[in-house]
Amino acid sequence: MPEKSESNPVTVHLSQPFTDQKPGTSGLRKSSKQFQEKNYLESFIEATLRTLQGVSGGTLIVGGDGRYGNLRAIDIILRMAAAHGVSKVITTTNGILSTPAASNLIRRNNAIGGIILSASHNPGGENGDFGVKINADNGGPASESLTNSIYSCTKKLMNYKIIENSTISLDKSGTYYIGAMIIEIIDGVDDYIQLMQDIFDFDRIRDLIKDEFSIAFDALNAVTGPYAKRLFEDLLGAPNGTVRNGIPKEDFGGCHPDPNLTYAPELSNLLLKSKSFSFGAACDGDGDRNMILGKGCFVNPSDSLAILAANASIVPAYSDGLFGVARSMPTSAAVDVVAQKLGIDCFETPTGWKYFGNLLDAKRITICGEESFGTGSNHVREKDGLWAVLFWLQILAQKRCSVSDLMRQHWSEYGRHYYSRHDYEEIPTQIANSVYRSMEDRLPKLSGESFAGQQIRFADNFSYKDPIDNSITQSQGLRIVLEDNSRVILRLSGTGTKGATLRVYLERFVHSNGKLNQDPQLALEDLINEIDSLAQIKLKTGFTKPTVIT
Ligand code: G1P
Ligand code: ZN
Repeated sequence: MPEKSESNPVTVHLSQPFTDQKPGTSGLRKSSKQFQEKNYLESFIEATLRTLQGVSGGTLIVGGDGRYGNLRAIDIILRMAAAHGVSKVITTTNGILSTPAASNLIRRNNAIGGIILSASHNPGGENGDFGVKINADNGGPASESLTNSIYSCTKKLMNYKIIENSTISLDKSGTYYIGAMIIEIIDGVDDYIQLMQDIFDFDRIRDLIKDEFSIAFDALNAVTGPYAKRLFEDLLGAPNGTVRNGIPKEDFGGCHPDPNLTYAPELSNLLLKSKSFSFGAACDGDGDRNMILGKGCFVNPSDSLAILAANASIVPAYSDGLFGVARSMPTSAAVDVVAQKLGIDCFETPTGWKYFGNLLDAKRITICGEESFGTGSNHVREKDGLWAVLFWLQILAQKRCSVSDLMRQHWSEYGRHYYSRHDYEEIPTQIANSVYRSMEDRLPKLSGESFAGQQIRFADNFSYKDPIDNSITQSQGLRIVLEDNSRVILRLSGTGTKGATLRVYLERFVHSNGKLNQDPQLALEDLINEIDSLAQIKLKTGFTKPTVIT
């Protein structure tokens, strides 16, 4: 085993603090070029190491989604962690570690937290984006208050500590040292696979796949490739080639690693046009998002959450029932109806996974999700793409029906929440702000007005009181709620790096005896037109249609 090395930290002085390191919905996300700027990454890591509790003598988990900048960042973090007296860093071969797998490692190793290098579903490469996500000791994204403390620290920061000239290669697993700090390089896939085997009945899923149930999984050249190959091809008996684009690439092969119908066209065509497979799925850059497709059938993520909750008893780990469920505010109320039937609580939280953390820790919920292709449970503290795919397969292995039959059965039992999200991306920030602000100003006067042939029951800017720590989070999205509970919501994205993204969320409930098989864009047409004329989105932005429709 390599020896402890004698290395003294050096202090590097900054000419002035960076003032643009405010983390958004999920960590600090900027262009790769920005992160390459001298001392930029170092500044944010220094602020993190000064702010996190228990750094000196603690264990940290570090890894990323393999994008351009990943290895350089891990090298810097290791040398800075050693300079700050961290006792051990667990990282992975080639630095490959999905977000849910990182969350699991933090929990399993009683780490003080983790640093995950990813800009999630944003494109990577030299001209793409990079990001740093800080996770706390429960395995979940840093709370608002931790994030704010790190940000305040960056604004005053004048120097950082690092150990020079002690780069460690991540090619092979093993134990290494920088100064007195131990570095354990492990295979980032093993522990995660073990966790999945503890949750699901793999034999049953294997039987399904054996019976000519064909699956296609698209890793979009990002982090889930090695995980998915191990799961589907090695352990569940799916043929070689089931996992497409399965080798993580620094630039994700030039694609936008976001599993939706726009950015995963290859998979969408296979399932929706040529109808060549029984089941299709894709995950995003860092493996926390998922898209589920059946033969000729797209599963809206809000419906997916409801279906997982309704069928949870099929999965061994949830067979004793659920504590409760939660969804982010813009996610459709499909899961609410399921919760009501199950007689369990359903919480409505702001957008962003961090808001589920307290509810999961306090055992108030077991399953939660967001409309943005994110679902997860109390097995980790992040959303988990492959977990959702296995969950679907477990349900189908039990029900032995097609994805579209399962959807139809669900709607005929619970009714259908027609749902769509329209994203207008890269709008000049000023224009996006003006659309948003002028709607916000009009909100108080909207109650009682007519909208798409109904009265507006109420209109507000969503705020949330955390039921566990009573903290209050305000201004989380403009809601217009109609008499029949149809909703239109407007939000500005907190994860983009170019201009601003305006998201318009549309929802309408139809009872189980109503029209259940319409095209969502038609079922929501009047809401779509009405919000456009009220907020003048197309007129003010010059867009003729949304960039992405889900
Ligand atoms: C988006 C999603 C949100 C998700 C986040 C991180 O944030 O809308 O649900 O938690 O990415 O994956 P937004 O860009 O809307 O702020
Ligand atoms: Zn992600």
